[in-house]
Amino acid sequence: MKPIELNDLPQYSGCISELLSDSSHKRPKNQQQIIREFGLEKWGSLLVQWKENPCGIDIVRQWGVPAGAVQAGLVDGQLMLMTANESFDYYVSLVERALLEDPSPHLLEIGCGYGSVLFELMKRANVNYESVVGLEYTQQGVELAQHLAAWHNYDVTIGPGDFNAAGISNTKIPPHTDIVTSFSLSYVRDSALALANIIKLNPRRILHFEPVFQHYREKTILGLLQRKYMEVNDYNSTFREELARLEGEGVIEIIKEEPMIFGGNCLSPLSLLVWQPVLVHAI
Ligand SMILES: C[S@@+](CC[C@H](N)C(=O)[O-])C[C@H]1O[C@@H](n2cnc3c(N)ncnc32)[C@H](O)[C@@H]1O
Repeated sequence: MKPIELNDLPQYSGCISELLSDSSHKRPKNQQQIIREFGLEKWGSLLVQWKENPCGIDIVRQWGVPAGAVQAGLVDGQLMLMTANESFDYYVSLVERALLEDPSPHLLEIGCGYGSVLFELMKRANVNYESVVGLEYTQQGVELAQHLAAWHNYDVTIGPGDFNAAGISNTKIPPHTDIVTSFSLSYVRDSALALANIIKLNPRRILHFEPVFQHYREKTILGLLQRKYMEVNDYNSTFREELARLEGEGVIEIIKEEPMIFGGNCLSPLSLLVWQPVLVHAI
């Protein structure tokens, strides 16, 4: 990793000039667009490639982003050039550390894509789970994750899941599971509905690794760029406020909040928010 200056960012991040121009147009995150972006384009094309050339997840990840590709990230508030591999390793270590602080026997990731983070956690095997479940919205993501789990012989259940659907999934989720979201709640429009659906799963703790609009500072150039990036990409900007509302009503307790712990992309660094339900809700 190598530090860079804000002034040099346009050299490494192609979208800065677009963000600053009048022509930057909004990319709406409705269900149709999510199916296009992940189902057809990202996970869909990886699935086609995998069927032609079945292999392990490390290779699939490199098909998506070459390991040596350099990106402008954000580490401890410092802009850093890093390779995709460095970024992935650093990020998964942060997720692992947060889980290890208070390990649970059950783990669920909602919006797990083809399982890149979940399977890396399983590969490292520093946390011993009785059950691991990955839920994903796109059918192509589910299918690819299922192939990869079988390829690696991972003891994990992968199934369809939707934050917006009552019950989220038909897959059985043990009570008191730790739920992780990793840049997936950002695709949800109705924060109140998604969080209510999560609470109905009767989880133990919820760990969000998500961009939080309110953490991007209005009084800095980088903060303004991050806010604009979030608006243009139509990422969820209300879930932090919804968590505050639920906490105010005594429904949940926020245990931890670490703003902008890491950004593989400096324009959408992720914050860690950990919370737990206070009331017992019937499923
Ligand atoms: C940026 S990817 C992140 C994938 C994975 N969590 C990771 O960190 O590598 C966002 C994922 O969220 C999923 N997603 C979007 N809307 C969702 C919804 N309503 N319910 C569940 N997953 C959703 C997408 O299909 C996609 O796989």
